[in-house]
Amino acid sequence: MDPLVETAREALEAAYVPYSEYRVGAALRTADGTVYTGCNLENANYSNSLHAEEVAVAEAVKNGHEAFERIAVSSGVRDGVTPCGMCRQTLAEFADDDLVVVCDEGGEETSEYTLGELLPNTISEQTLSDADAEGGAEAE
Ligand code: THU
Ligand code: ZN
Repeated sequence: MDPLVETAREALEAAYVPYSEYRVGAALRTADGTVYTGCNLENANYSNSLHAEEVAVAEAVKNGHEAFERIAVSSGVRDGVTPCGMCRQTLAEFADDDLVVVCDEGGEETSEYTLGELLPNTISEQTLSDADAEGGAEAE
């Protein structure tokens, strides 16, 4: 079994999910091999809920890491959950298109994607600096 998926499974145990009861865990491996984890933390207003991947990215960046190689994501029901659109964009802020995203399908089964497959043509720092070089982001 992929050890990063095992770690994501452990991480989801700490999820705070009184509203959806849908636990998600994430395990993010940095370029130097350090692993940071996250789980979803829901809120009574729903929209303030933190996603597992966001929490893992925050933990890693807070500790000085901005280069990521691989992330595993697992839900309590082992349904191959993938990062939502918002989490894909959060990952793209720090990771390249070749970040490997491993999704837990239960047992020994996983699905693997690259971030580039999940989120092609992302907006990035480059997008904004290109716009600036062309005289700003204002429409003509
Ligand atoms: N969730 C995540 O933690 N990560 C995702 O990218 C997909 C959704 C959480 C948010 C909410 O607490 C629950 O799963 C149901 O959407
Ligand atoms: Zn998400």
